[in-house]
Amino acid sequence: MSSADSSAPSALDDLERLLIDGKAAFESAADADALEKARVTFLGLKQGRIKTAQEVLKTLPGPDRKAYGQRFNAVKTALEEACELARLRIESGQASQAVASIDLTVPGAAPRFGRRHPLTQTAEELIDIFGRMGFSLARGPEIEDTFHNFVALNIPEHHPAREPLDNFYVTPGTLLRSQTSTVQIRVMKKCQPPVRVVALGRVYRPDAVDATHSFMFHQIEGLYVDRNVTMANLKSTLRQFAKSYLGQDVTVRFRPSFFPFTEPSVEVDMQWDASGRWVEMGGAGMVDPNVLKAVGFDPEIYSGFAFGLGIERLCMRRHGIDDIRPFYQNDYRFLNQF
Ligand code: PHE
Repeated sequence: MSSADSSAPSALDDLERLLIDGKAAFESAADADALEKARVTFLGLKQGRIKTAQEVLKTLPGPDRKAYGQRFNAVKTALEEACELARLRIESGQASQAVASIDLTVPGAAPRFGRRHPLTQTAEELIDIFGRMGFSLARGPEIEDTFHNFVALNIPEHHPAREPLDNFYVTPGTLLRSQTSTVQIRVMKKCQPPVRVVALGRVYRPDAVDATHSFMFHQIEGLYVDRNVTMANLKSTLRQFAKSYLGQDVTVRFRPSFFPFTEPSVEVDMQWDASGRWVEMGGAGMVDPNVLKAVGFDPEIYSGFAFGLGIERLCMRRHGIDDIRPFYQNDYRFLNQF
């Protein structure tokens, strides 16, 4: 007997053993990790048992090599198939497990609805209240020229209110409006008395931000020009408005003040809470005859009142908010409450 006679059968036996062991390992692999381990053990290209078996091929003498080579190829293919079958079994098992794990009785995640910003809600309510009092809505641009923001409002060239430090100038002749009074001029230049409008929107002033100040806030401006409009009309209009928006028990007071575009002028305060603290709600007054003249209304025939109120403060008083900053921070926990 040649050495080939003895080595070939044992080499072939080894191949059969490899096939049996491999199949068993693939069939018993319970998850992807176990399968991968079995794949490396049997089919691994570097150290797998199939690799070792392939190396045996080179050691066999010519006649045995052919038989071994054929069987080797068959075993290798069979192991690859067993591995692939196991992979499919494990993957589909996982999929069916995942389907089974959907619990149809679990309550769904409730969708979160968006809502209108508290300032938007306030603005709409103010428009509504003044609408019922006969005021229609007017608009003006946020980037204004110095004519509408100052000149026509009787604020002359070297007036401190025009200081670059107190305004956001865009160019020497334009700025982010510092007050909604600009809209008074735009309306009066277009209409004839009687004029009864409110205008509201953003105004900008370079104030340091704190609990009661912001570089941008919102105002509502009112203007009423007709024959025989008096200070008594102004006071009753604002009182009636305050009761409508803040409640019947609100107390409003008027303090003498000064604005270049009204004469006389007042500051309007509202009582903030039970402690008796007063907070300024805005400014108001009788439209200055110079302003009426500038827009072509005859001050001998017509008179009018105007007011400008801070919308944030009204909303804060109404809802008991003591800091202006949350209005601009878009924190859902704050917005969610309105
Ligand atoms: N524009 C003034 C301000 O911003 C308020 C005001 C409006 C005063 C109308 C009088 C008349 O403070």
